[in-house]
Amino acid sequence: MKIYVNAEKTPLARDPMIYGHFIEHFHRQIYGGVYDPGNPLSDEAGLRQDVLKAMRDIRVPVLRWPGGCFVSAYHWKNGVGKERIPHYDKAWRVEDPNTFGTDEYVDLCRKIGCEPYICTNAGTGTAEEMSDWVEYCNLDHEGQYARQRIAGGHPEPYGVKYWSIGNENYGYWEIGAKAAQEWGRLTAEAAKMMRRTDPSVQLSAAALTDPVWNMNLLQNCGQYLKWISIHDYWDPIHETNDAADYEACMVYTKDIGKSVRKVRGLLEALGLEKQISIAYDEWNLRQWYHPNIMELYQGLTKEEYLKPRDDNDINSSYTMADAVFTACFLNMCNRNCDIVRMANFSPIVNTRGCIFTYPEGIVLRSTYYVFYLYVNYLGDLIPDSWTKEQPSALLRGADGQEEELELLDVLVTAFTEGPGYAIAAVNKDPEKEQKLELHFDAAGPVHIYSLCGDSKDAYNDVEHTGASIEEWSPGSFSYGMRVTLKPHSVNIIQIGR
Ligand code: AHR
Repeated sequence: MKIYVNAEKTPLARDPMIYGHFIEHFHRQIYGGVYDPGNPLSDEAGLRQDVLKAMRDIRVPVLRWPGGCFVSAYHWKNGVGKERIPHYDKAWRVEDPNTFGTDEYVDLCRKIGCEPYICTNAGTGTAEEMSDWVEYCNLDHEGQYARQRIAGGHPEPYGVKYWSIGNENYGYWEIGAKAAQEWGRLTAEAAKMMRRTDPSVQLSAAALTDPVWNMNLLQNCGQYLKWISIHDYWDPIHETNDAADYEACMVYTKDIGKSVRKVRGLLEALGLEKQISIAYDEWNLRQWYHPNIMELYQGLTKEEYLKPRDDNDINSSYTMADAVFTACFLNMCNRNCDIVRMANFSPIVNTRGCIFTYPEGIVLRSTYYVFYLYVNYLGDLIPDSWTKEQPSALLRGADGQEEELELLDVLVTAFTEGPGYAIAAVNKDPEKEQKLELHFDAAGPVHIYSLCGDSKDAYNDVEHTGASIEEWSPGSFSYGMRVTLKPHSVNIIQIGR
């Protein structure tokens, strides 16, 4: 395949928040994940220092919290102050001790060096409860909740800029699910009160690609919003955990930008595309595994609905399929960076996350290395580029049908701070290497960072490393030079850096 760059056209500028993450009060993401008081690896606040370092090393820019389904019956006031009231989390049918609340979350974000992004309870919550949370976090000293924050030993306001109204309230599975018309009114009232508490907040609200839901939201609340939130998971395994194989995962990449295209179209039709950006604030190739809880039937025993959640933590499940898919998704976000300005990998720690924790340490799964490559070696500008002679192959999807799939996903980036290019070149081919010819003007040394894995099913575990980054320098750039892309690989080709 040949790639070309149009150096005459002004490049787009991507927001680093497309490399964001999400963490929820689910299974071992918080408790026993990033928050592990008493573990010798944890700091004085109970946060795992090895996890904090891993998060810093992928420059987490924003962290969404506390849910997810959890938030739709969560009352934040139980999670602040000296007395923490354990509450029964009806979303996931477990008791949450509330020892990790807003103060601990803001401390976590400060130690990572990322922006907090709080998702509020629009299930059982009210506009007032949401705006009280803004008061607690952001008012300097006025009001009972700012005063409560100060009394709790936090005199300075937290300055939480990003807030989302609700989580998936359109879904039958969500506690406090809403009809479209209800949603428009509730979000408008919540947004009004949140912005009267702190007019500097940037608000999002739960949405999807459904035009009726989104029209009600945007007609009632659009004037208050800076973001619209959408979620996608491609491998539908929350009841079965029968993970799709490599080829099926590649077929899932076929129209990976479909949701963005639909939401962009509606925003443009309403003339809102300059005011409202897309926050893809939950995405992952694979749905989380939590059987007998999201559907009508509720598991009668913990064996039925609780124990199976441990199977999210089988590290061999996360292979080069997850890594290649993740790279294709991030390439899509970069290409659409004029409207996708935040995305949150769901989640970051344990479950389907890129960091797995166990009492003595962590495992960096294959997806972690994709983030590592993208945040550390790609540029912040997206020049116009196009390709010719794209190779394709027939691959078998999850439905058993063969589909023709383009095998290379290649993104060109440049740098505000200096010369050169960095190309994210993804080879989806399960077996064969592919050649990429660089048909544009550039100069200087070429350096390649490659995440390939010892097979398409490579994974990392406590005693096993199957996917890591290799690097080499094939010499100086020349027009039309050919780079070999190994099968099932994510490659960053830096030129003139
Ligand atoms: O599977 C996890 C859930 O997926 C999140 O809590 C929710 O936001 C989404 O439906």
